[in-house]
Amino acid sequence: MATEGDTRKRKRRAGKGRNRNKTLKNTNNSPSAIASYKQEINNDNKGSTSSRSKSSSFLDKMKARLSGGHFRMLNEKLYTCTGNEALNFFKEDPSLFNMYHVGYQEQMSHWPELPVNVIIKWLKDRNPSLIVADFGCGDARLAKNVKNRVYSIDLVSSDPSVIACDMSKTPLESSSVDVAVFCLSLMGTDFPNYLQEAHRVLKPSGWLLIAEVKSRLDPNTGGADPNKFSKAICELGFTTEAKDFSNKMFILLHFKKQEKQIRDVNEVEWPKLKPCLYKRR
Ligand SMILES: C[S@@+](CC[C@H](N)C(=O)[O-])C[C@H]1O[C@@H](n2cnc3c(N)ncnc32)[C@H](O)[C@@H]1O
Repeated sequence: MATEGDTRKRKRRAGKGRNRNKTLKNTNNSPSAIASYKQEINNDNKGSTSSRSKSSSFLDKMKARLSGGHFRMLNEKLYTCTGNEALNFFKEDPSLFNMYHVGYQEQMSHWPELPVNVIIKWLKDRNPSLIVADFGCGDARLAKNVKNRVYSIDLVSSDPSVIACDMSKTPLESSSVDVAVFCLSLMGTDFPNYLQEAHRVLKPSGWLLIAEVKSRLDPNTGGADPNKFSKAICELGFTTEAKDFSNKMFILLHFKKQEKQIRDVNEVEWPKLKPCLYKRR
């Protein structure tokens, strides 16, 4: 016969099941789906004094969830929409940007070497008078670690120094920067427009530095052919300077801007870059 204790245990288990379903239910990554998820979590936390007293474990649970399922949801969203759609998405709820970056930092903590650090080193080995534009700067780590003047650009300004815009249309002057950096930031489906914008703002002979997740440019794993990708960039009006495939996690491509844009971005045959979907950890 079931005891009162057994019944209580069953109820507790059922309650846990309900919460799990809430997590699984919201697989839609629209801002409203994420907002309703956050509301559900808030409601769960309002309940009783005893549940409030568990707020620190709730926060831990929340952090783990954000760096897991919700990070992956936001990440997939960014890889499957245009820059302008992503800009509007974050305008509706800028807190989602922080949510994304908590998860992103967690993922990066497992990488043996960060591409942004390789780019920082590249800049430190050169003249600090070079003016840099960091397209998709995230937490502006690059700007914080070099002496150069850096225009940090991202969808949301998490720091007063960051210019918030879709990087296909920046407020930077034409031919005003020496180095354009894209560190894991060619996320939107309209990424060729970001490269065209870099071409516009770069001075003649200015550097274009791209670090991208290896799997996106590895034909063996369904990624694009890196040679086709480089060829398309050259058709836009760049010359290839260096290719580095030595890192396990990312590739590095260096280009220089030619005097003139050769073709319009829409005339170039761009390979599709598949989304980088991070593993569940
Ligand atoms: C994967 S994170 C990399 C951040 C940083 N570059 C690093 O290496 O740590 C990519 C960043 O690019 C930004 N991003 C993606 N598409 C963008 C766009 N169209 N305009 C501006 N920023 C964009 C994202 O918001 C995100 O912060």
